[in-house]
Amino acid sequence: MLDFYEKTKSRPPREFVVDVLSKLPPHSLILDLGCGSGVESKVAVEMGHLVLAIDANPQAVALTAQTGAFVSQQKIESFKTHLLFDAIIAINTLQFVEPTSVSKIVKFLRPGGYLVMSVFGPQDDWVKEGKANLVASKIFGNLVIEYFNERQYAGPAIGTGIVKHWHVCDYVLKNG
Ligand SMILES: C[S@@+](CC[C@H](N)C(=O)[O-])C[C@H]1O[C@@H](n2cnc3c(N)ncnc32)[C@H](O)[C@@H]1O
Repeated sequence: MLDFYEKTKSRPPREFVVDVLSKLPPHSLILDLGCGSGVESKVAVEMGHLVLAIDANPQAVALTAQTGAFVSQQKIESFKTHLLFDAIIAINTLQFVEPTSVSKIVKFLRPGGYLVMSVFGPQDDWVKEGKANLVASKIFGNLVIEYFNERQYAGPAIGTGIVKHWHVCDYVLKNG
């Protein structure tokens, strides 16, 4: 069976991410947290943005390095920077990050910058089973919700094929 990264590398980028990226002027500074196979990093690079992508997994880093993004293999929990990003992308990642590290991410956004994320909602099986954290309430702080969409369905996990209940929430949050 093909693994998660092989299966996801050909999927289209999330539309709500593309919408935000296309509002930004070229050469905007983008941070892709938990970049996976690099689909969102790739489209950001193609739009002329400067992209820093981070993932703890070496296979994810190797794939994303092919997109033209700057890539760093490290845990989000230990990521430090003095840069301020125009947009931070975090698709299906922050629920796996240590909760106190999730709130610090906002410090990497410039005023007016966007946090574009998909995270699990409370009805997701992995949240109920303690395999993933609830994220949104830890982040809202001073951010304004510009877009929200949620969906719930039964379906297989890409990596294992095991069917679970998914509760996925997409957000675009603006920093002031
Ligand atoms: C479900 S995948 C999503 C990948 C990609 N964003 C996507 O939507 O296809 C989660 C990714 O986050 C990475 N990840 C999970 N926890 C992490 C952490 N604490 N630090 C860095 N990367 C992490 C995993 O290695 C994995 O590539």
